[in-house]
This record gives sequence, structure tokens and C-alpha cells, in this order.
Amino acid sequence: MSAPAMDLRSLIEDRSTRIVVCCGAGGVGKTTTSAALALAAAEAGRTVVVLTIDPARRLAQSLGLVELDNEPRRVETPGVDGQLHAMMLDMKRTFDDVVSAHSSPDRAQQIFENPFYQALSSSFAGTQEYMAMEKLGQLRATDQWDLIIVDTPPSRSALDFLDAPNRMGRFLDGTMIRLLTAPARAGGRMGMRVVGAGFTVFSRIISKILGGQLLRDISSFVSALDTMFGGFRERATATYEMLRMPGTSFVVVATPEPDALREASYFVDRLSAEGMPLAGLVLNRTHPPATTALSATRAEAAAEEVLEAGGKGAKLAAGALRVHAERMTQATREQRLADRFSSAHPEVAVRTVPAAAGDVHDLDGLRVMGAELTGPDDDTPTGTPRTRILPARRS
Ligand SMILES: Nc1ncnc2c1ncn2[C@@H]1O[C@H](COP(=O)(O)OP(=O)(O)OP(=O)(O)O)[C@@H](O)[C@H]1O
Ligand SMILES: [Mg+2]
Repeated sequence: MSAPAMDLRSLIEDRSTRIVVCCGAGGVGKTTTSAALALAAAEAGRTVVVLTIDPARRLAQSLGLVELDNEPRRVETPGVDGQLHAMMLDMKRTFDDVVSAHSSPDRAQQIFENPFYQALSSSFAGTQEYMAMEKLGQLRATDQWDLIIVDTPPSRSALDFLDAPNRMGRFLDGTMIRLLTAPARAGGRMGMRVVGAGFTVFSRIISKILGGQLLRDISSFVSALDTMFGGFRERATATYEMLRMPGTSFVVVATPEPDALREASYFVDRLSAEGMPLAGLVLNRTHPPATTALSATRAEAAAEEVLEAGGKGAKLAAGALRVHAERMTQATREQRLADRFSSAHPEVAVRTVPAAAGDVHDLDGLRVMGAELTGPDDDTPTGTPRTRILPARRS
């Protein structure tokens, strides 16, 4: 069975494509894919901004992202028709900006100084995802770029990105916080009575664990943010809706490994349940063999024979055959995983991207990756279409 081909070239050249979101499990190549697609889009004449999240240092440097200023910077790309802008998300700065924009300077200062806010804005799980959405909303609102490519945070699960706005909204005006802080808000005993004995015990335990000071911090933070709740939720909902509008496409990235493909699988299901448009699956860091004419078994057997026959160069030839055998075995395993994904999701288009010899950390590397992502489907050395790692078995 073969997956449909993914046409990323048409996607990025299509003027009606306004947002491309690259999602996937941790470490699969989301940031690299985002940057490579952005460069390819600029080369295709578009004015593009890529919102990167925690890019590797060397990649950031080659994009000119040495300072964290939380605003897009133009990347020097001589000879390119369009424009490439890049930025690195500063989660805390983005959060601070939202607070500033929605409260009086006094109130904002009060919030900034709150230890609970400081923890929430710099380390709360989900804050990064929420702020990535927030930044995306801001970039989209300026209408300065005709294409925005969004990298997503290094979460364990790709779904975190989609869940974050809701979770954050729920958290900020959440029942949990209200209940926890109820005693403090209602001035002690009175509040307790309202929520019942079971909760009082629970609350006392939490209070022991977290400490009274933290609960008071949370409480005053919640009061200070009270006026902003509507704002937060509305914004989260608006950004979420933006992701469902025509002009937005998701690219799911995975490596040919069971965990990464399982995540990709969840994500694909979720997108389709939400009616969000999926461009397809980028299967990154595959290991296609140099030739598909010789199977692993035959290469192994040939290596044995060569060694037995002996003579000059026998060791070298046997070594080369063994390397090929290993590569074939690996490619076969990768193809099997890809097939499993495709039989569960036959409608999802696939693009394989071979592992480069080293890290992808400069514009040249991104250009090579961009060509792998957007080049013709069937111009591989072995003629295997780029939907696959090994040719389909004839049946
Ligand atoms: N096709 C490729 N060939 C070789 N190296 C690659 C390829 N794709 C990505 N890499 C390398 O793999 C590493 C991880 O890639 P990247 O940072 O893009 O992953 P990520 O999904 O963004 O990770 P995280 O979840 O941590 O954000 C980087 O060092 C990158 O250079
Ligand atoms: Mg990344």
C-alpha cells in the first residue's frame, strides 16, 4: 500500500496559504522543518516569518537570532526573491506583554511582582504552548507577512499545543484555583464552610504541601487577573478558531520510530476530529539505502562468500556489503512502521526526508532540507518515490 504524495511546494507557493503549523513529538525535527519550509517559501517569493521555539543554538545563530527580543528579524538571504523573517519565542516576555496590554500599569506591576505569576509565566507546563498561540495571533493581526510558519514547543505530546489554550483558560479561571483560594478570599472560616468538610481536609493538605504563602500568592494573583479572565479565554478561543480557518495547514512531523509515529497518529486523529486541515506527515530522518537492487539477506550472503574466497580487497568488499545489509534492514524496519501508520490513516499524504550526514544548522543545510521537503516526488537516486523509504513490493 502506498500513501498519497504530499505536495509541500504547492502548499507554500499557494498565496491562500497563510499559516503553516509544524507539530510532532519531541525532537523529531519540527524546528528544522519549520525553518526549512520558511526559507523555501521566501525563495518562492513570499514574505514569510517563522516563529521558532527553542531553536538549537547554531541554527538560531545562522538565522541571526542571537538576541531574544521576541520580535521578528529579517534574515539575510542574498539572491532570494521573497523575504525571510525569523523570531524566537520568549514565553515570559509574551506573557508580560499580554498582562501589560490588559491592565493598568499599577495592576500590571502588582501582577509581575507576584511570585506565583513569576512561576506561571516562566515554567508552568503549557505556558509555552499558550504563548506560542498568543504570539501567532499577534503576528497574524499585523498582516505584515503573507505566510507565517509556526514551530511548536518541545512537548512530550504533540497534542499539548492544541490543548494549551483551553487548559490555560480553564486553569486561570478554574474551579480548582477558586476552591483552593476560597478560604483566603472569603476571609478564612466562612469560605471553608461553603465547600464542605471533604474539601476542607483536602485544602488543608494542599496548604501544607504548597505553603500558606503560595496560596495567598495564588489568591492575589487570581484577584488581579480577574478582570483579564474574559480576555484570556477570548483570545485563546479566537486563536484556536484561526487555526481552523481556510488558509491554515498543519504539517505533522515524525521520525520512523514507534513513539513518534504513535504521537503523529493521535495528532492526525485529533485534527480530523476538530476539522483542522492537515497537509500531511513529514517522516524525517529516514535511512534509504543507496541501492535497492540487493536485499539484506543477499548482501549478507555475498559478504560471507567474498570473505571465504579471500584475496585482495575481500575484507573491504565484505565490509561494504555488510554496511549495505544493515542499511537495508533499517530501511525495511522504517518502511514497516510507515506502512503501519499509512494503513491506519490511508488518506494522509506522506513525505520522507532522509537523515542528513550531520545536524542541520545553517542556511545551506536548511536549503538541502527544503529541497528534500518540497522537491519533485520521484527524483531519488533509486527512483523510489518520496512517499516511501523502500520501493513498494510488487504483488
Ligand atoms: N533530516 C535531518 N537530518 C539530520 N539531522 C536532522 C534532520 N532533521 C533534524 N535534524 C537534527 O535533529 C535535531 C532535532 O531537530 P529539531 O530541533 O528540529 O527537532 P524538534 O522537533 O524541533 O525538537 P524539540 O521537540 O526539542 O523542539 C537537530 O539537531 C537537527 O539539526
Ligand atoms: Mg524545536
